[in-house]
Parts: sequence; C-alpha cells; structure tokens
Amino acid sequence: MQTTQPITKNVPTGMELLTDPKLNKGTAFTEEERARLGLVGLLPDSIEDIDRQLERVRGHLAIKPNDLERYIHLIGLADRNETLFFKLLMSDPKYFLPIVYDPTVGEACLKFGHIYRRPRGLYVSIHHKGRVAEVLRNWQAKDVRTICVSTGGRILGLGDLGANGMGIPIGKLQLYTACAAVPPDCLLPILLDIGTTNQNLLADPLYLGIRQQPPPTEALDEFVDEFVRAVQEVFPGCCIHFEDWKGTDAIRLLAKYKDRILCYNDDIQGTASVALAGLLTALQILGAKLRDQGILFLGAGSAGLGIADLLVSAMQHEGLTREEAAARISLFDINGLIEPSRKDLSLSQQVYAHPHAPSKDLVATIQSLKPSILIGVSTVGGAFNERVVRAMSKLNKQPIIFALSNPTDKAECTPEQAYTWSNGQALYAAGVQFPEVKFNGQTFHPGQANNVYIFPAIGLSIYVARPTRITDEMFLVAAQASAEQVTQEERSHGMLFPSQSDIQQAEFAIATRVAEYMFDHGFATVKRPSDVRSWIEGQLYRPHYTVEF
Ligand code: NAI
Repeated sequence: MQTTQPITKNVPTGMELLTDPKLNKGTAFTEEERARLGLVGLLPDSIEDIDRQLERVRGHLAIKPNDLERYIHLIGLADRNETLFFKLLMSDPKYFLPIVYDPTVGEACLKFGHIYRRPRGLYVSIHHKGRVAEVLRNWQAKDVRTICVSTGGRILGLGDLGANGMGIPIGKLQLYTACAAVPPDCLLPILLDIGTTNQNLLADPLYLGIRQQPPPTEALDEFVDEFVRAVQEVFPGCCIHFEDWKGTDAIRLLAKYKDRILCYNDDIQGTASVALAGLLTALQILGAKLRDQGILFLGAGSAGLGIADLLVSAMQHEGLTREEAAARISLFDINGLIEPSRKDLSLSQQVYAHPHAPSKDLVATIQSLKPSILIGVSTVGGAFNERVVRAMSKLNKQPIIFALSNPTDKAECTPEQAYTWSNGQALYAAGVQFPEVKFNGQTFHPGQANNVYIFPAIGLSIYVARPTRITDEMFLVAAQASAEQVTQEERSHGMLFPSQSDIQQAEFAIATRVAEYMFDHGFATVKRPSDVRSWIEGQLYRPHYTVEF
C-alpha cells in the first residue's frame, strides 16, 4: 500500500502534485504512482489513459453554449493539466484555433477582467521601472527561448485594451506549441502594463490593469529599453516577439531593435510574410511574377507598411532595384492616396509617395493606377464595395483581392461579395476564416491569411537553431515555404494557404526551411545537423505523460 517517501527527489506529492499543471496526470496516475506519491484517496478509483481523459473533455466542451465558454474551459484545463490541454489542441488544431485564438480570444480580451480566474504569464508594469530584471526573475523557468510581449495597445481590430491584452501573448504562445510543437516550458507570455487610453476599461471596477494613461513616447521607450536589457540579462539568447502594440510604437520599436537584438514583430513581419505567401500562391495560379504586378493597399498602418516593405524585398529577389520595387506599390489611407503633396506622412510612408494628383476616391485611384492586386488593411468593413471590386475586375481577368482586416465585420469585403462581383474570377483571401462559398456551380474555399502559418514555424526555428537575429529574409523564406505547401488540387479550389487540417506538417516544413537559412547565413548558434528536418522532429514537444515518477 501507500508509502510516504517518493522515489524521485524534488517531485511534489499529494495535493501539491495534483495542482501542478505541468506534472499532473489526474486520473492517469498509475496504482503504483498513487501509492508512492501520496495520492491514494485523492483520486477516484478508475485509472484512465489520456485518450479516455480527452473523451471526457470533449464531452464538456460539446455542452458549452458558445466559444467563449469553451475558451474559459480550455484555459481552466491548461491550469490543471497542461499535457492534456496540448494533447487536445494538437489533436485538431483547425477546430481549436478559432477558440484559443482569433476570433474568440478577442472576446476573451474584451472581458478579461470579468472572466479572470488564475494568473498566467508575467505582468510587468511601468510601476516596476527600475526593477524589471527582478520581476523577470520571479518567473520559475530559466530556459526561456521566446517571450511574447504586448502592451495591449492595439488588440486585433479592437483597439487599446490595456492589460486585458494578456490573452494575446498567452494565446500566441499556445499556438507555438499547438501548431509547431514548440515545448511550452520555454515560452513566456508577458503583458507590459503601461496604462490604457480605453475609457470604458478605466471606468470598469473589474479592470485589472493600472489605471492611468500610457506615458509619452520618450518615457515609454525608456521603459521598453529597460525591459529589453532585462530580458538579455535574465534570459540570455531569448527572442522577444512583439505583439499587438499600438501601430506607431510597433513600427518604431521594431526599427530600433531588429538589428540589435533577437526579436521580431508578428503584426508587421508575420502579417507581411503570410500576405506574401498568399500572393505567391495566387501568382503561381496566374503563372505571373510579383515584380510585374501593380499593388494598391487600402490602409497604411503597421500591417500595410510591413507587407509593402516585404513585397519590396521579394521583388528585389526577382531582380528589381529597391526604387523600382517601391514604385510598383501605392497606399491609400484615411486621408486618401499617399502622394508627395501630403504633409502627414511618416518616413516609412514617404517611400511609397509617388507622383500623382491628390485623391480621396478609391475607385478613381484604381482606375488611374490600374493595380492587379488590391490589399485591404484599413479596419474598414465593406470598404471594397461593388464598385471597387468591379473596377478591379474590369482591369484584370483575375484580380487578386485580399481583405485582411479583422475581426469579421471589419473585412473590406466578404468572399461571397468578391466572387459575385468578379463573376467568380477573384483570387481572394481574408484575415479571418470565412466558410466555403458556392458560386455558379463552383465551390470556393476562401483562404485565410492567418499569421498562424508563419509565427509558430518561426518560433520553432528559433527554438532549435538559437539564432542571433531574425531578419526580413527569414520571413521571405517562410512565405515561399508556405506557398510551396499548397497543392495543385487545393489551388484549384481557390485555396491560397496550406490546409489547416495538416497545419503541423506545414509548420515543420516551413521551420525547416527557415532553420536551414539560419545555418546557411551564419545566424544559428548551434552545430548544423546533417538532416535539419529530422533533427527538428527529434526536438518536438509530444503531449504524452512521459514523466516517470
Ligand atoms: P493601423 O491602425 O496601424 O492602420 C490602419 C490603417 O487604415 C491606417 O493607415 C488608417 O489611416 C487606415 N484607414 C482607417 N480608416 C480608413 C478609411 N476609412 N479609408 C482608408 N484607410 C483607412 O492597423 P494595422 O495594424 O495596420 O491593422 C489593420 C488591419 O489589418 C486590422 O484590422 C488588423 O486586424 C488587420 N490585420 C490582419 C492580419 C492578417 O490578416 N493576418 C494581421 C495584422 C493585422
């Protein structure tokens, strides 16, 4: 029967073990383990394997009334039994993606203070200035390979959600594991609490963040600088993944740090990479080259500029000079076409200010510039109306139309509208997942330009190759590798991205290509293996109860 001493030293016993999400196996503890670890009587009699436990969780989820309730249940599961949580997510990423991440995570962030149960990740507040390293040291794990950090300054398309934004770094890092099998122990979600401009949250008694306006830019940058230095000190070699910061902060900080430390910004570089991946697939369908296209963006914020800059790099790879490539791209924002007479342009926007008369009319601009590709990153739902899509269709047999703003009601047009108004000719992608569309007897599977095709693979390549920097070239390589994963059959149904049903295989293939690039160009800090793909596969996280007690 029960003995009091566990054989393995430093392993908690009894209730302490059952409340440790990393070690807990729940009803899967064997009879012998129960006896040795002081668990007899703390669990019901049945001993179950992980598949039986999954069956029970699936039953719980099935009776939940909506995805927000499923999200809350899943976070609770992660708090109790991390292995079971990831086993579940990894068993069907396509189903769980919209629950643990966009769009449900957006709703969860809006209500974060109301649905909050237990702490997860680290909250580094501006009140901790001067002792950020000390706060980071409170994190239990020491081998942290990637930190995902947000200020909550611009959550999805929902604006400034302050500390409620914590749901985003948590969800993003869960997808590193669910989609690319990055071991969860080496991932750390952080919310940098700098205050919020959101009056509703500031007035909400259940809001959990600090109740003040964000600091001026200079003070913010000083705080971020301390944070960046503290990460280098406490977790050397760790990558900082910036996520959902206010657009101007995101652009400025990426420009400041990308050549100095190991970091990337998924909203800028990941978005750009996935958009490029979709464009490369669409162009393969058309048998055309990127360098021969004219590209017009609606929206010139962090997403638009990030995509535009990566397209310039991609066109340079196809033989154009930087200036020739930039000349193929125009942007149109809330104040109209970006052209030299505008006095409100940032330096990064000025690159795309080509001689043209001022215009606030999108259709007239399309007719004048004659783009073959139209990309919406404006946050304006319905901005690609019938006149816009018809203008694109008149100029191009198969116009490429990407309506990337999200959530769903912000999409510049729906796939149904794009296919209807282009008579089934548009090559369309959205920022959210729309259901399939039947038009003229044909079934279309509208692509979702979801960064999830890129950032988990980047995370995996960082985990294995431990690079010194993340460069734009790596996002170019990731885009090309993603486009290569789309089969001929999938393309014939309008799919521009790999199937989400097989997302893990796509991520491993993309991570392999990116890691190879890191080795080839001297960025990796570990020894190059002879077969990168199988070397990566040997390091993947497997959600099994392998811990021997
Ligand atoms: P942002 O706030 O930095 O930029 C928005 C841009 O749209 C600004 O240039 C603004 O002037 C312009 N704009 C606003 N109203 C307009 C109007 N009426 N007409 C023309 N332009 C207008 O936002 P950010 O970060 O660039 O994101 C934009 C959208 O892209 C969001 O909805 C976001 O959810 C989406 N996005 C999609 C991704 C994806 O599909 N993978 C990834 C990242 C962002």
